[in-house]
Amino acid sequence: MADQLTVAGGGKTGSFSYDILWRDSFSALGDALRQIPDLRPGRICIVSDSNVAELYMAAVRRALEALSASVCEWVFPAGEESKTLATVTELYGFLIERHFDRHDLLIALGGGVTGDLTGFAAATYLRGIDFVQIPTSLLAQVDSSIGGKTGVDMAMYKNMVGSFHQPRLVYMNTRVLETLPDGQFASGMGEVIKTALLGDPALYAALQTEAEKIRERDPDVMAGVIRACCAVKADIVAQDPTEKGVRALLNLGHTLGHAIEKCRNYELPHGQCVGLGLLAAARLSAKRGLIPADLAVQIRDLLQVYDLPVSAGDVSAQDLLLATKSDKKMADGQIRFILLRGIGQAYVDKTVTDDELLWAAASVLSRSQTDTQEHEDMTQADTKEHGDRSQADTQKHDDRTQNTAAAGK
Ligand SMILES: NC(=O)c1ccc[n+]([C@@H]2O[C@H](COP(=O)([O-])OP(=O)(O)OC[C@H]3O[C@@H](n4cnc5c(N)ncnc54)[C@H](O)[C@@H]3O)[C@@H](O)[C@H]2O)c1
Ligand SMILES: [Zn+2]
Repeated sequence: MADQLTVAGGGKTGSFSYDILWRDSFSALGDALRQIPDLRPGRICIVSDSNVAELYMAAVRRALEALSASVCEWVFPAGEESKTLATVTELYGFLIERHFDRHDLLIALGGGVTGDLTGFAAATYLRGIDFVQIPTSLLAQVDSSIGGKTGVDMAMYKNMVGSFHQPRLVYMNTRVLETLPDGQFASGMGEVIKTALLGDPALYAALQTEAEKIRERDPDVMAGVIRACCAVKADIVAQDPTEKGVRALLNLGHTLGHAIEKCRNYELPHGQCVGLGLLAAARLSAKRGLIPADLAVQIRDLLQVYDLPVSAGDVSAQDLLLATKSDKKMADGQIRFILLRGIGQAYVDKTVTDDELLWAAASVLSRSQTDTQEHEDMTQADTKEHGDRSQADTQKHDDRTQNTAAAGK
């Protein structure tokens, strides 16, 4: 399989073209940067979080010292709490003290938090300097490092302030996933499943057939998964760099996912909340008869295979609805919910009602509600397709369905 892919596009923010490279160490980084025409940085600042810096800063620094005599490091405390203007302001101060100018370069070494905040600093420092993404989390390798969305959170509002600013290069060292904690690997798998659902049926099939190897982080199989995700994202970004249309599909699972993230006070990693949002979107799609009900069941099972939660825990559907409303206002007062017509067939739906949102939110709150809904959906669908469900199961769910209906949902 190719060890590089080009992301290219154009539009209001100008045209861009950059490579995603896959290597098994950091040693080729200097050479890769030398290949980029018009990129001749005097100074380089490597931005990383406290966890990743400890593991990989030295190797990245060594690789960059072959390119520039002036390489410095700037490390912030790991975690979403650091994705703020205050952190970026500290970084601006550091760059100013070291006389960084427009020809200099920032390197984002880390997960999505590092990429988003470094990219935002690069977009705004001196009205824009170059930056390079070296994504180290699975989530960043399959999603956040590509496409140029940068930004920070404001209080409890995610990504409220930001800018589109494309990196000059995305350099992935495939070995770094070895050190990623399990919960973070699962979080990345949430975005992988999202990508498969919205744009790649073959990847979706591989997630079923290669589950064991993926769970073991088999390097060859993971390389295929990551490349497939990057190809989907690169294609969508090329068509719509600034999210005026098709790029919105990448938000599959994110309306409720962000709401869950917020209502759970950011205790659950982003991709885990996205997984819950995907499940809610799949169930709503099944409820509307857009996809067979057993596909929603299969998606729930797939989330579980990858250790992703299928219940959002201690939050209320009403609170989730309220949290989506703050998103709703931002989208010109109209909610843009992404639904599925099949695997690889996501679409933006502007007709989702509050009742439907409440239903979708409730569907990922507790086990009993979950079972009830799946049964409800299944009774609406062609029952022949679900012959493997036992009579006893059906009876058990029937009672609960009636209770839910009586409660008026
Ligand atoms: N810009 C975009 O298009 C986009 C897309 C999706 C998500 N995001 C953003 O990305 C962020 C989430 O990204 P994330 O999940 O990577 O979070 P993160 O950057 O906080 O990384 C998760 C954790 O894993 C650690 N880590 C990362 N790589 C590691 C490695 N190789 N070994 C050991 N530990 C490692 C980090 O230190 C951190 O503790 C959110 O803020 C989300 O909004 C942005
Ligand atoms: Zn996401």
